[in-house]
Amino acid sequence: MPLSELVRSGTLRTPSYVYDLDAIAAEARELHQGFGSEAHLVAFAVKANSAGPVVRTLAAEGCGADVVSGAELDVAIACGVAPSSIVYNGVAKRDDEIDKALGVGILAIQIESVEEIGRVAARARALGLDRRAQISLRINPAVDFDALETHANIATGHDEAKFGIAQEDLPRALEIIRGAPEVRLVGLGHHIGSQIPTVQAYRTAARTLFSLAAAFAGNGSLRDKLLFLDTGGGFGIDYGAGRPPRPREFVQAALEERKLCELADIPLLVEPGRSLVGSHGMLISRVVQAKSSSVRGTTRRWLMIDAGMNDLIRPALYQARHRVVPLDTNGASADFTATLWRVVGPVCESSDDFGVHALPDTAPTYVALLDAGAYGFTMSNQYNGRALPDEVFLRGGQVVAVSRAKSQDDWVADRIAIGR
Ligand code: LLP
Repeated sequence: MPLSELVRSGTLRTPSYVYDLDAIAAEARELHQGFGSEAHLVAFAVKANSAGPVVRTLAAEGCGADVVSGAELDVAIACGVAPSSIVYNGVAKRDDEIDKALGVGILAIQIESVEEIGRVAARARALGLDRRAQISLRINPAVDFDALETHANIATGHDEAKFGIAQEDLPRALEIIRGAPEVRLVGLGHHIGSQIPTVQAYRTAARTLFSLAAAFAGNGSLRDKLLFLDTGGGFGIDYGAGRPPRPREFVQAALEERKLCELADIPLLVEPGRSLVGSHGMLISRVVQAKSSSVRGTTRRWLMIDAGMNDLIRPALYQARHRVVPLDTNGASADFTATLWRVVGPVCESSDDFGVHALPDTAPTYVALLDAGAYGFTMSNQYNGRALPDEVFLRGGQVVAVSRAKSQDDWVADRIAIGR
């Protein structure tokens, strides 16, 4: 059924995220194929899209999970991801979250500072675990910031980032691990940033990681214990400005580098979020008001839509551009005369702005903001007393699930209930 029909029938209210579960499954299959016959783990970064149907779909395709909170860990496990396929990143994991991860026995807690090793060891001791707590070291490969070619707010692998253990601190970390019988080092990894547009920066960082792994794990006993090497996620997607390499090309570069370092016997783990889901979700919105005004002899035109920066914050936060396309012609002929409209949301902030787009001169009734399947709903909020957007899940072209999240009425009730 065409999306405009779903809107008219009321199945799809606006604003609503719509996801294509078949395309998400196909994305996972293609990535697995990129590994050929190599042992590997694709740990889906749940922060990109934590909806049950999405996580269940990826779990069914053999994906593990990369989580960053106890809550994401709960979602992953409840959606069928085996604990032995889960890694847990994050610079400030709370004790109760570490306890949860240790209790279910995940593949590895990714250690982000030398100091964290002692805390995980202490929690393992306090819990009286009958097995060693599995940890991996997230290394900060100090990649050249400019080489990453991504937005500053989503670059994580340069040496001023809060993430990971600096290379110079690695010997100290290994020393502490040697003296901590409660923990077992099972992996080394990094994640250099997100929306990486070329393979080169990924390859260079992978080379750094594997060289370190070869130097430290070398021939010693450490090497036998390593269950994985983790080159993170970050594979860029096409937001309309050009097609980055496919995720499997990033993986192939990492596999080549791993082989050059003679570590091909250690399985490769990757942590993609955006590339599995980003292109397979869109945000559907209704045009509330078209506005034109004359300023010094020129006409300015705005399309005010019912989706705002609270629903999709990426443009406001990273100057990201999501293509906006009409869902209907509103009576205009299909080969419409395009007009440049500035598409904006209802939130009282100037940054609630989705950019200028060529849309029919006769404003459409509904528009779709494309490539919103990653970091869309998961970053939404109720600023300005707004509802959280609905989510609609399609399989075989049919609606298989609908989520009606917090409404405006819920927001009103929550706010006034405080202190009552
Ligand atoms: N692993 C770690 C440790 C991460 O921090 C992230 C993302 C990923 C994996 C997944 O990266 P991906 O494959 O999705 O690029 N909200 C931003 C993106 C933030 C990414 C945070 N970390 C955006 O909307 O562009």
